Amino acid sequence: MSFKIPELNNPSVCMRDPQRVQDILMSMQKSGSNTLQVISDFDMTLTRFAYEGKRCPTCHNILDNSKLISNDCKEKLKELLNTYYPIEIDSSRSIEEKLPLMVEWWTKAHDLLVEQRIRKDLLATVVRESEARLREGFQLFFNHLHEHSIPLLIFSAGIGDILEEVIRQAGVFHSNVKVFSNYMDFDESGVLKAFKGELIHIYNKREGALLNTGHFQELRTRPNVLLLGDSLGDLTMADGVQDMENILKIGFLNDKVEERKQSYLDSYDIVLVKDETLEVPNAVLLYLTDCCLIYSIS
Ligand code: C5P
Ligand code: MG
Repeated sequence: MSFKIPELNNPSVCMRDPQRVQDILMSMQKSGSNTLQVISDFDMTLTRFAYEGKRCPTCHNILDNSKLISNDCKEKLKELLNTYYPIEIDSSRSIEEKLPLMVEWWTKAHDLLVEQRIRKDLLATVVRESEARLREGFQLFFNHLHEHSIPLLIFSAGIGDILEEVIRQAGVFHSNVKVFSNYMDFDESGVLKAFKGELIHIYNKREGALLNTGHFQELRTRPNVLLLGDSLGDLTMADGVQDMENILKIGFLNDKVEERKQSYLDSYDIVLVKDETLEVPNAVLLYLTDCCLIYSIS
C-alpha cells in the first residue's frame, strides 16, 4: 500500500489495518488542524526508553536515583521497581489482575518519597543532573503544535512537578501544553508532605479523564484526536473527549516486544516497535497540518 506519509513505511511501523489508518488520516486531514487535539502519555512515550543501550529514567526514577533520596530508601524503591515493573508489562495477566498491584506500587513509592522530606527548590537541579531524555524530534513535535495552536494534553501517571521541569528545561513548555498528572503537595517551608488529589496510575487514566470534563468541554470544537502512548492503559486517555469524530492511536512498543505485539496491534492503529524517535508522530502531524512539503525539504 502506498502511503501519503512515507514514514509509515519505516521498518519500526506495524499496523493491523493500514487501510483504516489511511482512512482516519484522510478524514482528519480534511477536517483541518483547527479540529485537532493531541493527547499524549509522558514516560516512555515522549521520553526515550533507552539510550546507548541503557534504560532511561521515568519521572519517578529521576527522583528515585537522585541525591534527595537516602541510600536505604533508594534500595526500597529499587525493590519496588523490580517487583512491580515486570507485573506492569506482563502480558499473561489481565488489567483487572494488575490494577490493585499497580495501586500498591504507586502508593508504596509515594509514601517512601514523602518520608524523604524532599525540597521543592531542589527539583530543578535534580532534573538537570538526571539522565531524562525526550525522544529525538521533540522540538519539532512541541514547536509545531504550538505554532499551529493545537492543544497538547500530557496525561501522565508520573510526577507532574518533575515532568513540567523536564519540558521547561528543554524549552518546550509552551502555552498550548496542559498536564494531568500526580502533583506534589509541599508544606509552607517547601518540603514534600503528600501528593495532591486522586492518584493517577497506569490503569485509571479513564477515571482521570472523566474528572476533568472542563478541559474537554473547552476543546469541544476539536473532535479529532491524535493519541500517543506506550501502555495499554494509555488507550483510555481520550475517554473524556466530547463528540469525538476520529481518533488515531499511536503506540510505542518498547519492551517485551514479541509477547506484547499482538495486543498492541489489536488496540493501537500504529505500533512503533523499538523506535526511540518521534519521527512517525511528527510526520503524521505535518500531514494533518498540511506541512508535508516543508517537512520533506527541511
Ligand atoms: O507518564 P506515564 O503515565 O507513562 O508514567 C507511568 C510510568 O511510571 C509507568 O510506566 C511506570 O513504569 C513508571 N513508574 C515508576 N516508578 C513508580 C511508579 C511508576 O517508574 N514508582
Ligand atoms: Mg508511559
